[in-house]
Amino acid sequence: MNDPLAAISALLRDLPATSPAGDAPLPDPDANTILHMDNLAAMSLIRDQSIDFIYLDPPFASSAHYWREIRLPGHTVRQPAYIDHWPNGLSGYLAFLVPRLAATRRLLKPTGSICVHLDTHSSHYVKVALDAIFGPELLVNEVVWRYGKMSNTSRRFPQNHDTLLVYAASSDWYFEPVRNQPSEYRNRFLRDLTGNQVLYGSVKHRQDKLILRRIAARTKELGRDLRDSDILFDFDLERKVQDDVFTDISIVKGNAREGTGYDTQKPQQLLERLISAYSPPDGVVADFFCGSGTTGAAASALNRRWILADYGLPAIQLSRLRLAASTPTFRRDPALQSPTFDIDATGAIRDYRLEEIDLSASDEAIVASQLETDPSPLLVGRIGDIVIDVFGREATLPD
Ligand SMILES: C[S@@+](CC[C@H](N)C(=O)[O-])C[C@H]1O[C@@H](n2cnc3c(N)ncnc32)[C@H](O)[C@@H]1O
Repeated sequence: MNDPLAAISALLRDLPATSPAGDAPLPDPDANTILHMDNLAAMSLIRDQSIDFIYLDPPFASSAHYWREIRLPGHTVRQPAYIDHWPNGLSGYLAFLVPRLAATRRLLKPTGSICVHLDTHSSHYVKVALDAIFGPELLVNEVVWRYGKMSNTSRRFPQNHDTLLVYAASSDWYFEPVRNQPSEYRNRFLRDLTGNQVLYGSVKHRQDKLILRRIAARTKELGRDLRDSDILFDFDLERKVQDDVFTDISIVKGNAREGTGYDTQKPQQLLERLISAYSPPDGVVADFFCGSGTTGAAASALNRRWILADYGLPAIQLSRLRLAASTPTFRRDPALQSPTFDIDATGAIRDYRLEEIDLSASDEAIVASQLETDPSPLLVGRIGDIVIDVFGREATLPD
């Protein structure tokens, strides 16, 4: 079917009922969790109404290939990370995404919400699907994130934003306003500032409506005539409440300290803003398209518990490495039976260094047979012009 709207209504009509797998073990009250599996399977491990905030940054239907870059001394290895190409175009994409969006609903607490991060490729169709799943009245925000990326296009305005659709599980959703923006008034008084304050004495002769209004209010508040040292504006205290257009957070640039080499990595600051607004301080946050693990890093920084899932080995390896530092305890994937060459025999975490792979004999046999039967793009990488598999043998990159 090539009509995306018809595809959405057919999908929503035929959705299988989602239920947790047996006595679903997650969220674990004592640990954070990384799951290496398809996210539908990951969601089935989670109890009903147990998550405060779900952030999803799925493939965008961009028709592109994405990579993880590993910088080794002397050369850089590019490991295929995931492919965002869909047979049957947008309808095929929606057939993948819509059941996953619908499956999140069962997991959310009544006060919970979900944020789906998209761009112009598919946000319009996904919004229709989310309206059908949650109800248009539970659209909490449509956030525009202006990421500040240079682009050379001359036939249209350069694209410079993503769209984040936030829906709630019920009308009782949690939200904590973010008061982090400098007040817009501050720029009007740059020449008058004493520290970060505007004193009555520096502006008392100006016939500016804002100043006159503030003088009247302060006079009433203090119950006397103002003195030169009285504060009219204190910009340490006067902050603007964040609105739904984020313009102050830039994409993760190649040389950024937080950069992990994972294409499509999102800035931690963006996730921290969303998590602090939509989840309570002791809340549980989940991300089922976790990529490099940004949501886990942000949640840890804000003392929330987290559950991450991704089906890609590069994403899992990277998330484990990234989060081992900030979060000493996390569960190993209980269902992980595939090659575990990112965890050595003692359970220590290892990076995916093509040169350093040191497999146990049994792991080696598993990987070898997997390479023969399914030369997954996750098991081969590139050193310069040469493509090699995890054993360092010459190989070809799967299409
Ligand atoms: C846009 S990236 C996420 C990037 C992430 N937000 C970050 O900051 O690094 C999308 C991720 O979805 C994963 N993915 C795609 N389909 C999936 C599926 N069915 N189950 C689990 N993960 C999937 C890909 O492997 C990829 O890592």
